[in-house]
Amino acid sequence: MLFAGLATAVALLSSSVAATIYYAGVAESSGEFGVWSATSTPGTGLPGRFGVDYAFINTSAIDVFVDQNKVNLFRVAFLLERMCPLATGLGAKFDEEHFSHFKEAIDYITINKSAYAILDPHNYMRYNDPSQQPMTGSIIGDTSDVKAATTAQFGAFWGELAGRFKSNEKPHDMATSLVLTNDQAAIDAIRKAGAKQLIIAPGNSWTGGHSWTQGSDASSLLLQNIKDPLNNTAFDIHEYVDSDYSGGHVNCTNLASVQLAPLTAWLAKYNFKAMITEFGASNSTRCTSYMSDIINYMSDNPQYIGWTAWAAGPFWGTSSPCCTDQAHWGSLEPGSTAADGTPGLYETVWLKMIQKLVPKTSLVWKGMSSLKPI
Ligand SMILES: *[C@@H]1O[C@H](CO)[C@@H](O)[C@H](O)[C@H]1NC(C)=O
Ligand SMILES: *[C@@H]1O[C@H](CO)[C@@H](O)[C@H](O)[C@H]1NC(C)=O
Ligand SMILES: *[C@@H]1O[C@H](CO)[C@@H](O)[C@H](O)[C@H]1NC(C)=O
Ligand SMILES: *[C@@H]1O[C@H](CO)[C@@H](O)[C@H](O)[C@H]1NC(C)=O
Ligand SMILES: *[C@@H]1O[C@H](CO)[C@@H](O)[C@H](O)[C@H]1NC(C)=O
Repeated sequence: MLFAGLATAVALLSSSVAATIYYAGVAESSGEFGVWSATSTPGTGLPGRFGVDYAFINTSAIDVFVDQNKVNLFRVAFLLERMCPLATGLGAKFDEEHFSHFKEAIDYITINKSAYAILDPHNYMRYNDPSQQPMTGSIIGDTSDVKAATTAQFGAFWGELAGRFKSNEKPHDMATSLVLTNDQAAIDAIRKAGAKQLIIAPGNSWTGGHSWTQGSDASSLLLQNIKDPLNNTAFDIHEYVDSDYSGGHVNCTNLASVQLAPLTAWLAKYNFKAMITEFGASNSTRCTSYMSDIINYMSDNPQYIGWTAWAAGPFWGTSSPCCTDQAHWGSLEPGSTAADGTPGLYETVWLKMIQKLVPKTSLVWKGMSSLKPI
């Protein structure tokens, strides 16, 4: 009964205009694939074969999302170890062939389709060993680890990437670091390179929304000090609604509208905005009201300017941990099927539930990505 009551209240609220959600879409996950190793063998899947071990997008899927579903944002994951091979290290020297495949995906989204893209180094603020991501690899900027890449190298990487995309108005640059100094180094390098696009900076503890204000080393104690000379930085938040916020449990228990309230108050206090670039329900089909709750909560609170649902991408097959039971295991990729061969989550979750909550009037299609698009 409680669920039904909440769902109804939320449905009523959502009929008001979602005025500040400027960007909405899906996380394209697959560019970081092909490196996981059951035996923790460093270097597994590096550099990897484009189109075989990993890929960034399927252009047909992007067409469906943009042309039919009218969404304007894709978060495109890649691995730092592929963009900046271990032999040359993290920094401004890229593997040009790898970069060209990534650029092709970003250009397709932003130029051919006029949508926006988040450049997402999917590295959990680590670099040098993704074999058991997110547990392996040296923490960037960890001065007690001689193998760790430095904050300066991280800044050099972002400066180079931002410089290469600075004349493209559509990407958002996304810093991966879990610490203020790394975020700040990335912002400084991106601005120094002349890129003016919206930056989304993560916090600590998996950049979780519910945990933003929790613990003795909470993101909320420090991250208000972040400085962007152009005032065009938002925070990047992830949120799952099952018991431990991982997306892997059967029952949903953590309603986002309740769990995100302290974060929302913190954002309002310091006059910051946020995007939720990963969210999902749980390993079950019982959570529909929780998914609509989080999307409506963002629409109803002006601290939120965009979202990407987890996850689509050409290589997920039937293993994306979003919103379904095992028989329907699958991904949000259009055309994909579920584990049991029935229509996949694009049909059963995206079209049936998420699509109805995509803002109809507030998404923007022109101009520089921004906290306040004109
Ligand atoms: C994207 O647009 C460019 C320029 O119009 C065109 O040459 C290219 O074929 C398009 N790419 C795809 C995959 O359609
Ligand atoms: C950024 O915000 C600060 C504080 O509100 C303000 O002093 C500054 O002029 C702003 N800078 C730009 C470029 O808008
Ligand atoms: C999903 O739940 C089932 C049990 O219902 C379990 O066997 C499976 O490992 C779970 N998957 C994930 C990713 O947690
Ligand atoms: C999930 O919730 C259902 C219904 O309330 C309950 O019967 C079941 O035991 C719960 N499962 C777990 C793993 O907590
Ligand atoms: C891309 O999507 C189309 C349409 O769903 C599908 O036919 C094709 O197999 C996909 N390609 C890849 C490489 O997944």
